[in-house]
Amino acid sequence: MRIRRDGAARPYPERNTEPSSRPGCRASPKQHLLGCGEVLVPRYHPRMQTTVTPAKLGEEPVLRNLAQLYAYDFAEIMGWDIPDSGRFPDAIVDGCFGNTSRCPFFLRAGDHLAGFAIVDMRSRLTGDESVHDMAEFFVARTSRRRGVGAAAAVALFDRFPGHWEVRQADRNTAALAFWRAIIGRNTAGRFDEVRHDGPGWRGTVQSFDWP
Ligand SMILES: CC(C)(COP(=O)(O)OP(=O)(O)OC[C@H]1O[C@@H](n2cnc3c(N)ncnc32)[C@H](O)[C@@H]1OP(=O)(O)O)[C@@H](O)C(=O)NCCC(=O)NCCS
Repeated sequence: MRIRRDGAARPYPERNTEPSSRPGCRASPKQHLLGCGEVLVPRYHPRMQTTVTPAKLGEEPVLRNLAQLYAYDFAEIMGWDIPDSGRFPDAIVDGCFGNTSRCPFFLRAGDHLAGFAIVDMRSRLTGDESVHDMAEFFVARTSRRRGVGAAAAVALFDRFPGHWEVRQADRNTAALAFWRAIIGRNTAGRFDEVRHDGPGWRGTVQSFDWP
């Protein structure tokens, strides 16, 4: 049990233990790209009301704008310079709205845009299509440390039951702490963590079955 900043006791976001009534996207991983309009609402009460919605075809410019904020954060973490154009590369968005395995989502806190996530329907490490990979995950600075990332992560794990891999770059110590906390709490510590040092990825990887 966590204590809210206003002093009231409230359960921390936890894994959903009810059977999901939502259709599995694995059977049709591109379904959300066609604007099926599904809204994922976490079934617990995070400190900040959080919703996760599939990005629609016309929303690619919004995702590209958020990708700039994400890249700016990574520039600080990784020590990147700002490109001469003043704009970071946003190749992570390429293919998200086409016929690929990458599924983009927007995160909202209350009524406001708060970030995005991209889930890949295959392992970044092995290419295994039975694995879900949290390819990108971003909560804007204006919405951080209010449980938005925790709620959104659990909603996405719920949305795609099965085997997951979540990765953090070596220098991203905040993300390492975040993912260890979220995955640890929600799997009761049943996850593997390894350091991967291969051509496709260098950093920490957690892998686990959900639920
Ligand atoms: C990492 C990130 C997603 C966290 O999002 P968030 O909404 O602020 O996280 P939450 O508020 O849900 O935090 C849940 C728990 O994770 C841990 N945590 C979150 N941010 C943390 C940080 N900066 N340092 C240490 N622990 C952290 C804490 O245990 C926290 O619980 P608490 O606030 O009760 O202490 C966000 O900081 C972010 O987008 N960072 C930049 C992009 C990035 O690194 N993405 C991840 C790529 S792998």
